[in-house]
Amino acid sequence: METTLIILKPDALQRGLMGRLVSRFEDKGLHIVGAKLMRISPELAAKHYAVHEGKPFYDKLLRFMTSSPVFVMAVRGVGAIEISRKMMGATFGSKADPGTIRGDFGVSNSFNLIHGSDSAESAEHELALFFSPGEILDSARQIEPWIYDLSAGTPE
Ligand code: RTP
Ligand code: MG
Repeated sequence: METTLIILKPDALQRGLMGRLVSRFEDKGLHIVGAKLMRISPELAAKHYAVHEGKPFYDKLLRFMTSSPVFVMAVRGVGAIEISRKMMGATFGSKADPGTIRGDFGVSNSFNLIHGSDSAESAEHELALFFSPGEILDSARQIEPWIYDLSAGTPE
């Protein structure tokens, strides 16, 4: 099982899309194991997007991410990182395919609704930035045997 960091960005919350976007992850069968509503500080935004420091869009990106509250989730599942990235769609709303979150809900290239970790290393790093250890829960879902085929001992 992998756990990934998902952030519903300020535009998603201002537009009242939080519930519908959370539902997409639940509908898919992914398990939400941590969640919080918060306002990202400039310091945290800088740490989170450190790989983009110096790029032309960096200052604007930080201003956007700190402009208004976000909803942050730890999302778990087999292959959760890649599955979530596919669900999000391409970075720019203008390019993202229909059926993806960015493709279905937005047209902007800057206000693109959602963040998802892009690798196992990023996920580990980003989850530690946004959640303290006790905030990500390990409780089992009763529905798990209907989400995955567990007959061989591992979720398939
Ligand atoms: P994210 O990190 O937010 O999940 O987005 P991503 O992986 O799809 O895209 P990334 O390359 O990591 O870029 C981070 C955010 O910066 C803004 N951006 N603007 N104008 C530009 O060329 C440009 N490139 C990136 C987007 O808001 C993107 O989500
Ligand atoms: Mg990224």
